[in-house]
Amino acid sequence: MRWTAGVRAGAALTAAAVTVSGAAAVAAPGKPGSPRYQAGAPGVGDAYFPYAGNGGYDVGHYDLDLTYTPPGAAPAPLEGEMDAVATIELTATRDLDRFNLDLRGLEATAVTVDGTRLTAVDAPAAGRTVGGPVFWQVQDDDARVWELTVQPRPKLKAGTTVEVVVEYGGTTTRPTDVEGALYGWVTTRDGSLVANEPDGAMTWFPASDHPTDKATFSYEITVPEGKVAVANGLPAAEPVTADGWTTWAWDAPDLQATYLATASVGDFEQLPASQSSSGVPILDFLDTDLGAAGRATSEASLARQPEMIDVFEDLFGDYPFVAYGSIVDDDSLGYALETQTRPVYSRQASEGTVAHELAHQWFGNAVSPQRWQDIWLNEGWATYATWIWNEHRGIRTAQESYDSWYAPARNDAYWALPIGDPGPTGLFAGQVYNRGAATLHALRVEVGDEAFFAGARLWLERYDDSSATSEDFQAVYEEVSGEDLDDFFDTWLYADEKPPATWTTGG
Ligand code: TRP
Ligand code: ZN
Repeated sequence: MRWTAGVRAGAALTAAAVTVSGAAAVAAPGKPGSPRYQAGAPGVGDAYFPYAGNGGYDVGHYDLDLTYTPPGAAPAPLEGEMDAVATIELTATRDLDRFNLDLRGLEATAVTVDGTRLTAVDAPAAGRTVGGPVFWQVQDDDARVWELTVQPRPKLKAGTTVEVVVEYGGTTTRPTDVEGALYGWVTTRDGSLVANEPDGAMTWFPASDHPTDKATFSYEITVPEGKVAVANGLPAAEPVTADGWTTWAWDAPDLQATYLATASVGDFEQLPASQSSSGVPILDFLDTDLGAAGRATSEASLARQPEMIDVFEDLFGDYPFVAYGSIVDDDSLGYALETQTRPVYSRQASEGTVAHELAHQWFGNAVSPQRWQDIWLNEGWATYATWIWNEHRGIRTAQESYDSWYAPARNDAYWALPIGDPGPTGLFAGQVYNRGAATLHALRVEVGDEAFFAGARLWLERYDDSSATSEDFQAVYEEVSGEDLDDFFDTWLYADEKPPATWTTGG
């Protein structure tokens, strides 16, 4: 690709253009004590995804103006066309000579910083720099390095907030994560199904693509008339149609991790709006091409959402965002995702999955993993919440769910996976979900119901709109219980064998 000039496939990991250490310091010449402007690091230091997110700044807001043409009628390839403008408000957290955004598979054609236009250049060779207000892209699919470098002039002093406007676009495809699962802007027959966990936001907008950099979002999504575009939050305006194109505007005013952004496009029909008894508005969108069975199952499950919000608010505290609701697509990713305020479902929304994705709004979305290795805090909690929901429904108690996980014989490989550090290809392993839920049940038995739910609420309050680690979680539970929980968490999160029955013989 023309715009990847300067980088050989597979050779980029130490290229100056994307050095992880970001150590290429550019000192202001000869003035002792004057600011030292540096390149922002091309990653936030996540051990699993070293190039996810970026150092040196914080994003405050993403305004995404997308024009999208879905694939033509079959047998056309599953490719769409994206023509977009991202307006990103960000604040430098150190003196910056240049900084990166993550952008994968799309070409940045124009960049301005506070209105000053930068010039597109090829990525400089290792060890070289290039002067002036410029930008360049590195796209290395083999090394999984996708970076847009922005070098503004004047340089950015720590604390300065600027507006970065990136015009970009290209052909959308069906990107895959490090495990090979579909994610990001997944082009579908009738539009797109957009689910970015863990680092797929960069497949459709220039981002600091890591959950430690949350921001607010707004969207204007222009699609061929007849198509519906659904994003996070609430509609910002009535859809506007002109010349065969309809623009759908959405506003997501709650802080949101990039992996939880969505802008799914399809032949959607909105169900009658509802709300929880606490007043959370619920906006659901069903693909008109769902089969009769998929539609019936989904409608029955989604009708339970208000009651589910009531049950979880009772246990965990107020629902954290301005709205809720779901998107059920007739195309499949092979999984559902808890996209903020508006989960996406593949082909159908089953009741257990709806409870799971709703619980993520508290566990994962309001409080997010600080490192991807902390994923069990998302999946363990969401799974445990479905155990609680099933108990509420009179299906089986949480203890019975625990027992039916604990009792069966499983192989050594199953027990060997440390859910507290499952590796980048183990993020969504079954153990992260089920041993994760069992960990929480065992913790509940260990500290008692009162401390268990007090701990959940303290965790959600303390780290609301933010991110935290497994160590932070242990500290919260030591605080509420007054117990030393080292042995507990070592055994449940890291030991490579089946945890002994000691913790949960009660019931
Ligand atoms: N976080 C999703 C959920 O549990 C699951 C998920 C995201 C997933 N990416 C995946 C599952 C890839 C399997 C493969 O709601
Ligand atoms: Zn989940």
